[in-house]
Amino acid sequence: MSFHFTRAIVRPPSSNFADGMTSVSLGVPDFARAFDQHARYCEALERCGLTLVHLPEDPAHPDATFVEDTAVLSARCNVLTRPGAASRAGEIETMRAALAAAVINANEIIEPGSLDGGDICELGDHFFIGVSHRTNWDGAAQLAALLTKARYTSSCIDIRAVPGILHLKSGIAALDDERIIAIDSLTDHPVLKGRDLVRVAPGEEYAANCVRVNDHVLIAAGFPAMQRTLEKLGYDLIVIEMSEFQKMDGGLSCLSLRF
Ligand code: GLY
Repeated sequence: MSFHFTRAIVRPPSSNFADGMTSVSLGVPDFARAFDQHARYCEALERCGLTLVHLPEDPAHPDATFVEDTAVLSARCNVLTRPGAASRAGEIETMRAALAAAVINANEIIEPGSLDGGDICELGDHFFIGVSHRTNWDGAAQLAALLTKARYTSSCIDIRAVPGILHLKSGIAALDDERIIAIDSLTDHPVLKGRDLVRVAPGEEYAANCVRVNDHVLIAAGFPAMQRTLEKLGYDLIVIEMSEFQKMDGGLSCLSLRF
């Protein structure tokens, strides 16, 4: 099962977190509140049964709290990424060390490929690979080859013209091995045809970035329609305040690497 995890790597925001990149205009994040929201997020992962590996804050890389972008971890294939934003390239050094410490052997995306973990969505034995302004076709092809070797299948979704999303997982999220949440601008994509899709109500697009962790689904606070939909489907939700991370283009999945 692709959503069964025992551990997660997390890293708190640094005090200069607001110096990171963002494409949204929701105001400057409040550091104390972001730090507290991150602590609540970590508690939620622990409630899901995970043991956490805490990396130290990384002020040299203000976006480094979004650890998911630096690796793709799965049962048969682990990959250290090559983040598409120059300011984030150095984040992989501490992640390389963290993976080694966790005894995770990882392949690496190499130049000219670039790839952000936020563009990778695992659904059972299949991976959707977002081609974005961070993940290029070469990076996508490198990952696809590694996945094939590990007996996974994959398909690409070009999101560069999809408005309002930074990464593929800003717009889709796997709820289990079959069911996937998708924002309206992605539901008609050919690679999602025939999938069990959960639609996102207009105005609640940020809530698409849910995270299934063992018996729970983490969902951002403030999105009642998505909450109702998932509750009706029988998911056990943990609702988490994400306002300060949303201001910096970050979602729930970005804040941890689950394995
Ligand atoms: N602020 C998250 C990112 O741009 O990568």
